[in-house]
Amino acid sequence: MSNPATDQRCHPCTLQNNPYLPHLATLTLVREEGPGLMTFEAQFQDPETAQTFTYLPGQFLEISVLGAGEAPFGIASVAGPGRPLRFSVQKMGLVTTALHGLSEGATIGIRGPFGNGFPVLEHKGKNVLIIGGGIGLPPLRSVIEYLRENCHDYGEVCIIYGARNPQMLCYKECLLDWGQDEAFDLKLTVDKGDEDWEGHEGFVPSYLEELNPPADNAVAYTVGPPIMIKFVLQAFDKLGWPRNQVFASLEAKMKCGFGKCGRCNVGPKLVCLDGPVFSAEELQGLPWI
Ligand SMILES: Cc1cc2nc3c(=O)[nH]c(=O)nc-3n(C[C@H](O)[C@H](O)[C@H](O)COP(=O)(O)OP(=O)(O)OC[C@H]3O[C@@H](n4cnc5c(N)ncnc54)[C@H](O)[C@@H]3O)c2cc1C
Ligand code: FES
Repeated sequence: MSNPATDQRCHPCTLQNNPYLPHLATLTLVREEGPGLMTFEAQFQDPETAQTFTYLPGQFLEISVLGAGEAPFGIASVAGPGRPLRFSVQKMGLVTTALHGLSEGATIGIRGPFGNGFPVLEHKGKNVLIIGGGIGLPPLRSVIEYLRENCHDYGEVCIIYGARNPQMLCYKECLLDWGQDEAFDLKLTVDKGDEDWEGHEGFVPSYLEELNPPADNAVAYTVGPPIMIKFVLQAFDKLGWPRNQVFASLEAKMKCGFGKCGRCNVGPKLVCLDGPVFSAEELQGLPWI
């Protein structure tokens, strides 16, 4: 006799639409990016998924390694049919260490895209200020390259990026490229320079205050360590930016990635579903740090 529960679970259409089921993908690039940081590119093994998978800058993926588990990572690439997905991974624990042990040609699982992403579509016509700290740059690369591809829809783009020291600035070839592109005004800073560093020294929030960018017709997107985000938001307050013009991407421990398990809650909000991008206005009063 048939069992409706089992039949339902095993029906191929149900499996296809199962948000817990990862798409298989092959790593096409594995590159050391900096101390403890690796960059990966992956192509879906199913040709139809490779052509149709799309996402917004600021969304994230749940990446799985067989036998190790699954973890969320911001997308560093721009969507386009057949384009590889890029993400960068800082070695932390079980899953990130397993990812660091993989080579080109290895198979991984990918679920997503999840989260809201930065509201780039709503912000057409605006000047965009991008503020990154440390390994916050990879997810911002998705925004920056998106803005480059759609530059006619946006005003001026300024990128402020900082790291603890020059060795910890990641995506160095991108920084070189963006620094030479007239579409961008790139400002770099390090907490402490070395003998070769001739650029700015100081924390990202202080540099932001120093640069004092105008709020008129502008929005700001920031990704970085929580402590940097906290002080960046305070700097914007001091500079008189309205809080609904400033957007930050948060990190939280996650499981499902799409609002079912409750693991990622910050007060009444779920980072995976309501975020990871929140306006400074929304963050007011939330216990996010
Ligand atoms: C939306 C989002 C985007 C992210 N994007 C990136 C990215 O682009 N690159 C990147 O390297 N990391 C990113 N992270 C953080 C990444 O998900 C964690 O580093 C990862 O889950 C750790 O997994 P693990 O199994 O290696 O560590 P575990 O073995 O689970 O834990 C090791 C250590 O990491 C801490 N940890 C676990 N999960 C998180 C988490 N979600 N955030 C912060 N600390 C955590 C634990 O408290 C513990 O101290 C992102 C997280 C979120 C929520
Ligand atoms: S990770 Fe499950 S609800 Fe957010």
